[in-house]
Amino acid sequence: MTKGIAIYPGSFDPVTNGHMDMIKRGLRLFDRLIVAILHNPAKRSALFTVDERVMMLKDIFKEDENVEVDAHSGLLVDYAEQKGATAILRGLRATSDFEYEFQMALMNRRLNRNVQTVFLMSGLQWIFTSSSIVKEAATFGGDVKSMVPPLVNDKLKERFAK
Ligand code: PNS
Repeated sequence: MTKGIAIYPGSFDPVTNGHMDMIKRGLRLFDRLIVAILHNPAKRSALFTVDERVMMLKDIFKEDENVEVDAHSGLLVDYAEQKGATAILRGLRATSDFEYEFQMALMNRRLNRNVQTVFLMSGLQWIFTSSSIVKEAATFGGDVKSMVPPLVNDKLKERFAK
């Protein structure tokens, strides 16, 4: 039985170990994951450009043939259909994520009933990890290496050393 393709969408500004855990677990449910950087209109100022984020993610997953990295500027469900994906994978952390995720999943379902949103609970270790908190700590010289892949840690250091 085929397990199909899922899109794992997000801003990934930058990718964290919480995202990495989701991808690893998502690969046990799906044959292939497309990690897709999409635009979140609520997030106005980005630290890394979309190209920088794509480059980082491509580098991190260069050995994983089941993971594709891409960027898309339009609607998530249109992108999913275009890629032949039948699912959207999202992680749920503390209860604060729920309302936003619920709303987005229902909207996506209304827009396209052929694409199912699948949620995985965040691992306990990553329940309070977010790209925003990582960025805030790194901005002020905080050590975030336990929360992000080594490449991201290097890029953050490079960025804030300037
Ligand atoms: O990591 P984030 O910022 O929580 O991810 C949110 C994202 C980028 C997945 C979401 O904003 C999104 O899907 N943007 C593309 C536009 C879209 O399809 N929005 C949802 C239906 S209105």
